[in-house]
Amino acid sequence: MSAESRWAIRVDAPGGFEKLRWVRLPCEVLRPGEVRVRTESIGVNFADCVVRMGLYESAKKYVGWPIVPGFEFCGTVIECAPGVDLAPGQQVVGITRFGGYATEVVVPAEQVFELPQGWSAREAGGFSVTTLTAWYALRELCKLRAGDRVLVHSAAGGVGLAAMSIVRACGAEAIGVVGAPHKCDAATHAGAAHVIDRSNCDWERALSDLAPGGVDVVLDPNGAATLRASYRHLGPAGRLVIYGFHEMFSRGSGRPNWPKLIWQWLRTPRFDPLQMTNHNKGVLAFNLSYLFDRLDVLAEALRELQGWAEQGLLRPSPTTSFALSDAAEAHRALQGGATVGKLVLVP
Ligand SMILES: NC(=O)c1ccc[n+]([C@@H]2O[C@H](COP(=O)([O-])OP(=O)(O)OC[C@H]3O[C@@H](n4cnc5c(N)ncnc54)[C@H](OP(=O)(O)O)[C@@H]3O)[C@@H](O)[C@H]2O)c1
Repeated sequence: MSAESRWAIRVDAPGGFEKLRWVRLPCEVLRPGEVRVRTESIGVNFADCVVRMGLYESAKKYVGWPIVPGFEFCGTVIECAPGVDLAPGQQVVGITRFGGYATEVVVPAEQVFELPQGWSAREAGGFSVTTLTAWYALRELCKLRAGDRVLVHSAAGGVGLAAMSIVRACGAEAIGVVGAPHKCDAATHAGAAHVIDRSNCDWERALSDLAPGGVDVVLDPNGAATLRASYRHLGPAGRLVIYGFHEMFSRGSGRPNWPKLIWQWLRTPRFDPLQMTNHNKGVLAFNLSYLFDRLDVLAEALRELQGWAEQGLLRPSPTTSFALSDAAEAHRALQGGATVGKLVLVP
């Protein structure tokens, strides 16, 4: 590979796993305030699969086609714009609004922070997005306090495990719901006080036994499958946070199942503000890609997360690696719905 080119996984048109193509691209130009990083590990997020299928709104807004997916990485700084307070050779963890599935990325210096001591570059590549998602839901939107009770759906996934660690770091209590028995240990290890395996029980009944008065916060990335029930199990002043709709997709399939998508969309509850006021419950939703427009919030998040990391309260989740050129296999595994923790791509 010449000094002016890099390798990347690019999607030229929406579709299945086969759309993730290994291509050679010119290096990006370094602008003021930016750093160039040689990636050592790149996180895979469910959102990347949604980008690949052509259903991710902010990908259309900010990039269009073709697109190099990828929101996060860990790597070594190889070049800095003048005035940037980093040096070549430093290992950093960072986020990027798309473009992460590449051997080299260029990002504003505010979007990276130094690799915490004792963390491996491999694990750290999958740390940022899930942790920032959980942080934004729990700290920015819900102002989580010690003693609060939080229900986390898909508790052994990337966001789920990160949420569990943050709940514990805040002195609150997490109840995790998982979809298979092999996921229970990971959720417990990450900090869940209780884990409900919904594959072998009625999760709502199990939750009512654990929290008869309801919970303070529910994190729900499922969509129509659980939103109504999640709202029902909020206690007084409880908040339901919505940040995903993964049950809209068919497990194991790389392509959208349009009848299922439409049916799930029709089933999605429309929450009534009058009722929410009467019930004293709130419904919130967000998309992290817009956080790139709020660097002040991002800085606050990174400060708090770094503090927890230094105190040993926060660590990267258990991680499974794939070669960057095998990104399709990583997407296939994530969309299979059986993975635990984070998946990363290693160039
Ligand atoms: N709004 C945002 O800014 C934002 C940012 C990051 C992530 N997210 C969302 O958060 C959710 C979790 O993301 P993640 O990357 O951490 O993924 P993940 O939780 O590691 O993996 C997906 C998990 O979701 C469950 N699942 C339910 N339906 C599924 C389906 N049709 N296909 C595959 N898995 C399914 C499975 O767990 P169980 O069977 O155990 O439930 C699976 O293990 C996703 O919905 C993602 O889009 C949103």
